[in-house]
Amino acid sequence: MAYFLVYLLVLILVPTISADPDALQDFCVADTNSSTIFMNGLPCINPSKASVKHFTTSALSKPGDTSTNVFNASVIIATAQILPGINTLGITIARVDLAVKGEVPPHFHARATEIIFVLEGNLIVGFVDTTYKLFSTEIKTGDVFVFPKGLVHFVYNMGNTSAVMIQAFNGQDFGTTLIPIAVFHSSPGIPDQVLSKAFQISAAEVDTIRKNLGGK
Ligand SMILES: *[C@@H]1O[C@H](CO)[C@@H](O)[C@H](O)[C@H]1NC(C)=O
Ligand SMILES: *[C@@H]1O[C@H](CO)[C@@H](O)[C@H](O)[C@H]1NC(C)=O
Repeated sequence: MAYFLVYLLVLILVPTISADPDALQDFCVADTNSSTIFMNGLPCINPSKASVKHFTTSALSKPGDTSTNVFNASVIIATAQILPGINTLGITIARVDLAVKGEVPPHFHARATEIIFVLEGNLIVGFVDTTYKLFSTEIKTGDVFVFPKGLVHFVYNMGNTSAVMIQAFNGQDFGTTLIPIAVFHSSPGIPDQVLSKAFQISAAEVDTIRKNLGGK
């Protein structure tokens, strides 16, 4: 009984909701030029050298180029490299532009939950939980959707115009694993026979998918 109470107390007291560890100081403006210190996050510059410019960026102000990848999606992330002030604060923000029929293909973020706000467009969004149940719907300009941490999710532009959305994450470096790329375009590649068996397709079909995704 005593053990159980201790266990319960630990469950209540241990914070489990924040994705990144809490900061121990007001800010830790990232030293984006440091290549000698490897730590969880980025080292800070001397706080007396911090200025307001470290806390702002215009990187998300213009549409990204959706023609450079087969998914016709552009994702611009306000990383600590371009917004050094977010270092250790446990958040970041991104802008996604999708051409007509463009998509952010099924993927997951190992280190953060994501919430999106549609600035413009008509989207099909969804995620699959760990029991393989799909939660999917159509959303439009002004709508919000949330993708729980670590779950496979996607966004598809079903509208007749290009779409724009803002993404926010409770992690400064949330990590993105695109399923098609991780599976069919890793480096080096997963052996053909493994993918053949996994997807119940021939080795030739495996190669076709690899080529379609820009592999050889
Ligand atoms: C979609 O992607 C293809 C291949 O990268 C590109 O040629 C095409 O221009 C893109 N379309 C748009 C509307 O961005
Ligand atoms: C796109 O346009 C077609 C006809 O041109 C229309 O049938 C369809 O409803 C439109 N879709 C959206 C999402 O507006």
